[in-house]
Amino acid sequence: MWKRISTFLLGGLHLMGCATFEAGAPKGQVDVIAHRGGSAYRPENTLAAFRNAIALKAHWFELDCTLTKDGEVVVIHDDTLARTTGGVPGEVKDYTLAEMKRYDVGSWFGPEYGAERFPSLGESLDLAKGKIGVYIEIKNSDDDSKLTGGILADFKDAPRLFPEHGDEILKRIEASGSRNLELARKVIALVRERKMEKQIVIQSFSAIVCAVALIEAPELRTELLASSSEKDPQQWGRFVAWLRLLDPHGFNPNKNDVTEALVRDLHAQGKTIAPWTVNEPADMARLARWGVDSLITDKPDVALGVTR
Ligand code: G3P
Ligand code: CA
Repeated sequence: MWKRISTFLLGGLHLMGCATFEAGAPKGQVDVIAHRGGSAYRPENTLAAFRNAIALKAHWFELDCTLTKDGEVVVIHDDTLARTTGGVPGEVKDYTLAEMKRYDVGSWFGPEYGAERFPSLGESLDLAKGKIGVYIEIKNSDDDSKLTGGILADFKDAPRLFPEHGDEILKRIEASGSRNLELARKVIALVRERKMEKQIVIQSFSAIVCAVALIEAPELRTELLASSSEKDPQQWGRFVAWLRLLDPHGFNPNKNDVTEALVRDLHAQGKTIAPWTVNEPADMARLARWGVDSLITDKPDVALGVTR
């Protein structure tokens, strides 16, 4: 109970927004987020999937977005087109939005979805407005490792970056020329144009994307995604360092990285936790018992059944 109260106090706008738009769960209930729109049932990251998430009464759908060659924000998970187009070659950054829209992104999942096209973020938000919340995952769309490594080294003893060091961090990001800056700013503008600030959450594995959102759009909820990696044992430690420095509203790890103690610690810091991608009922039940705020799942109907 205290967790929900602290979430309410710290994320008041968020929950009030959910109430206004009926996009959030009532207090005391785990929010269910349809991953890529609920990719067990519809081709991922399509308007068909987002409509189905609404029909299933998920509280939110999640989508992935990045920048096209002509600077539009397009909804797609991968850096390349091939997986969901039946093999169209090349990278998203080399296609305009109009060029991407020539391709069918539904038939790989089922012939009845052959009319699906890559949605823009704007189209996806228009579909959701007033009906469901949207977790916007802004994909890490540039190699910022030099920039992030420098910030981590220079601020290794700082309790946080903001507000004290906000101007300096933004200057460093601007000087780096990172595409993540342009992408984050465009996403924020698309949300603001539609007055959907209370109906969306921004999440990203990119510390730079999160930093831009936290500095330039403090009215939005911004949550840091995280995962450990066998290939890079230091990866988790870097996410934990960014959690301290950025002080985001939430921390969303891979389900395998969640412990009951982590849930407790995050709540003690006034942060929410939304693990991904939780598709097994036993995992859903365990994480709900541990008190996670939300479950990101390909099977929102199953999560709603387990957590109701
Ligand atoms: O919502 C978080 C989750 O989507 C992160 O993983 O690879 O599915 O974008 P991925
Ligand atoms: Ca995602």
